[in-house]
Amino acid sequence: MLKIRDIQSGYGESKVLFDISMTIPEGSIVSLVGSNAAGKTTLINTISGLNRAWAGSIEFMGEDITLLSPAARVERGLVQTPEGRRLFPDLSVRENLLMGSYLKSVRGSREKNLKKAYELFPRLYERKDQQAGSLSGGEQQMCAIARSLMSCPKLLILDEPSLGLAPILISQVFEIIQDIQRENVTILLVEQNVQQALSLADKGYVLESGHITMEGTGEFLLHDDGLRRAYLGI
Ligand SMILES: Nc1ncnc2c1ncn2[C@@H]1O[C@H](COP(=O)(O)OP(=O)(O)OP(=O)(O)O)[C@@H](O)[C@H]1O
Ligand SMILES: [Mg+2]
Repeated sequence: MLKIRDIQSGYGESKVLFDISMTIPEGSIVSLVGSNAAGKTTLINTISGLNRAWAGSIEFMGEDITLLSPAARVERGLVQTPEGRRLFPDLSVRENLLMGSYLKSVRGSREKNLKKAYELFPRLYERKDQQAGSLSGGEQQMCAIARSLMSCPKLLILDEPSLGLAPILISQVFEIIQDIQRENVTILLVEQNVQQALSLADKGYVLESGHITMEGTGEFLLHDDGLRRAYLGI
């Protein structure tokens, strides 16, 4: 579904990504893990078009999208839920969700998508008229994910959806990610929660200082001694 080849990117003079290549098969969950400042957010921002690729190519469903605007990528079904929420705090939960379906192509399925979002997140239905800014951190995170789903993604990119959540909510978020996959959405998941992210991943990549240093099935990576020492403290 997504093929990136030899991607380089960075900020100003400083290069952050060095020849990154990745493949995301349709229907899979792919987890991208790595320590702080490894370049994970930079990489997914390059995939979604928020950062410019300095070199290399990005192919989505057979089409070269390297030079497309972020909006044009969203129209094709490549949707990113940003790190750290970014909701409209003064708008209600329902209004925030509707903001996710501004594209002409998905406007027709607004109500259907809204219903689906509430099914996936009953909590948001209970709070649909509440201002998003007054939701708890976990609820805001759910609202941000639900809003991304309103634009009918084919590939959903999640940047640290478990960040700052209590353990019980973290497990819920990981369950919801699997529910989303069952709805035929392919998922690229960026996580610091290495154990859980790799447990549910069909495939994982480890990013260190802007280089992919390991890739394999989630199962394979979880059994790798080097990875366990570096990321799981075992
Ligand atoms: N807008 C920016 N301008 C300049 N440098 C940046 C910018 N955004 C990120 N960087 C730098 O790029 C490097 C990679 O940052 P990035 O946010 O991609 O890391 P990350 O792997 O997502 O880290 P974290 O796990 O902390 O979110 C860091 O050294 C960071 O300081
Ligand atoms: Mg990041």
